[in-house]
Amino acid sequence: MRWDIINHYIRDRNFSHYLEIGIGQGVNWNRIECSTKVGVDPSEKAKEIVPDIEQMTSDHFFLANNDKFDIIFIDGLHHADQLLRDVRNSLRILNQNGVIICHDLLPDIEETQLVPRQSKRWTGDCWKAWAYLRSTDPNLKMFIYDIDHGVGVIERGQQNLIDCSNLDWDWFVKNRGQLNIRSYDPNVLQMCDFGT
Ligand SMILES: C[S@@+](CC[C@H](N)C(=O)[O-])C[C@H]1O[C@@H](n2cnc3c(N)ncnc32)[C@H](O)[C@@H]1O
Repeated sequence: MRWDIINHYIRDRNFSHYLEIGIGQGVNWNRIECSTKVGVDPSEKAKEIVPDIEQMTSDHFFLANNDKFDIIFIDGLHHADQLLRDVRNSLRILNQNGVIICHDLLPDIEETQLVPRQSKRWTGDCWKAWAYLRSTDPNLKMFIYDIDHGVGVIERGQQNLIDCSNLDWDWFVKNRGQLNIRSYDPNVLQMCDFGT
């Protein structure tokens, strides 16, 4: 699950500063083992469940924050434009060999990714932000683990860009392989082998 991947990076790279955008009920948060954890969520419910979070939107947090982080988990508002902004803001405060993890990148059916939300289980259209970055930013390394509705990993580096002109559901069905999808084996986490 997402926390296994996050905890693996924390252990493997000796990370000490963790930021989570979007806490929800703390399901992931409570499983993360890191010496410094900062959580951000605007909802009162999240604040009740995890009292020591920053109760604000990610946009407000990034405006006010001066800290740097080793690993940032983005799981807030699942709209493509918001995810894109969260990734760009995260890159500004990411330590040199740091990692950004994004959740919900692989919707299984069209309805799951519709914005505004129309289904109980909802990934939103985060995949569009991912595809956009795969097609426009050569200075990142990106892949998605095919578990838990898609857990994406971003680092600074180099990648070959893909072509995506019309990001609709048809494009996703035909081209999802171009998003760099990997199967997940908890015993063989390929931390360094990104491919392109
Ligand atoms: C899917 S839940 C997070 C689940 C949690 N990360 C986990 O894995 O257990 C999404 C959360 O994002 C929060 N959220 C919505 N808009 C946000 C925003 N603009 N900035 C930060 N968090 C936001 C919601 O309040 C909700 O609690």
